[in-house]
Amino acid sequence: MNVQRIIIDCDPGIDDAVSLLLALASPEVEVLGVTTVCGNIPVDATTRNALTICHLAGRDDIPVYSGAVRPILREPIMAEFSGGSGLGNAVLEAPVRKAEVLHAVDYLVKTLVEAGERGEKITLCAHGPLTNLALMIRHSPAVAKGIERIVLMGGAFRAGGNRTRTAEFNMLADPHAAAIVVSAGIPITMLPLDATYQAMATPERVEKIRAVPGKVAQTVADILTFWDRKDLKRYGSLGGPLHDPLVPAYVIRPDLFTIESTFVEVEWRSELCFGQTVADWYGRTDAAHNVDVVLGVNAEGFFDLLTERLASYGN
Ligand code: RIB
Ligand code: CA
Repeated sequence: MNVQRIIIDCDPGIDDAVSLLLALASPEVEVLGVTTVCGNIPVDATTRNALTICHLAGRDDIPVYSGAVRPILREPIMAEFSGGSGLGNAVLEAPVRKAEVLHAVDYLVKTLVEAGERGEKITLCAHGPLTNLALMIRHSPAVAKGIERIVLMGGAFRAGGNRTRTAEFNMLADPHAAAIVVSAGIPITMLPLDATYQAMATPERVEKIRAVPGKVAQTVADILTFWDRKDLKRYGSLGGPLHDPLVPAYVIRPDLFTIESTFVEVEWRSELCFGQTVADWYGRTDAAHNVDVVLGVNAEGFFDLLTERLASYGN
């Protein structure tokens, strides 16, 4: 098996937590480290939650690096649906360790530059605001040589926004960072709301997870029950869209997804469209394609994968 080495940049966050649990149970990837960012909740809390989730997974060996405390230019915004701790109503064992001393951006720069010098490449999985990644690129553009691809959750095209009429949360939370990342010349796969709205954690799918014995699966069933947005008009079904776990799922099983390559820019000048992702679907510019946008998800295949991997934790 060709094991892909990955770093996960995140803001746990309920769906971020499920994403970490999926990646940590998947032999197709080796998680080198987790970096955290201000997003769903302040960075101190996202860092603590990342440590808590690694502990739940029995993976206190995974280093966690705390990152940017605020976006590059705009004021921080927080997510609306993550619960007080950021992990819904889950009652979890406190972490037994602290984050590493090194800052997340310094860790990313060091690890990726060194990998590039050795001729190796690492995949970056990102499902929070892109502040750490933008700072990393501005700090040391040479990181590009050590990056296989950035696979990120963010953006909205035909789906429209979830935090404003035009913008998805991760893009809106730091649009200047997102603009830096998508224009950096690094291969990018983007999972926008158009894709994630196809991965609904319906009551039936959550019940299949609840039927799996073990603390990890039970915790995920609990937090996904909290995640139920009850917004039939927006999502077309009960449950909530499970955005972030699609990122490691794409790395592990790209055959479950369909993509379209295009030129994408992130808007940061306009008030109405602040944080909007804008694609050139019909070739109206001469710009080179910079993003593979995921537009199709085999949702049954994804939930089967997630359920199987949660079962692998055992009791
Ligand atoms: O818009 C979805 C994104 O924002 C996800 O990363 C989720 O964690 C939410 O906060
Ligand atoms: Ca997230």
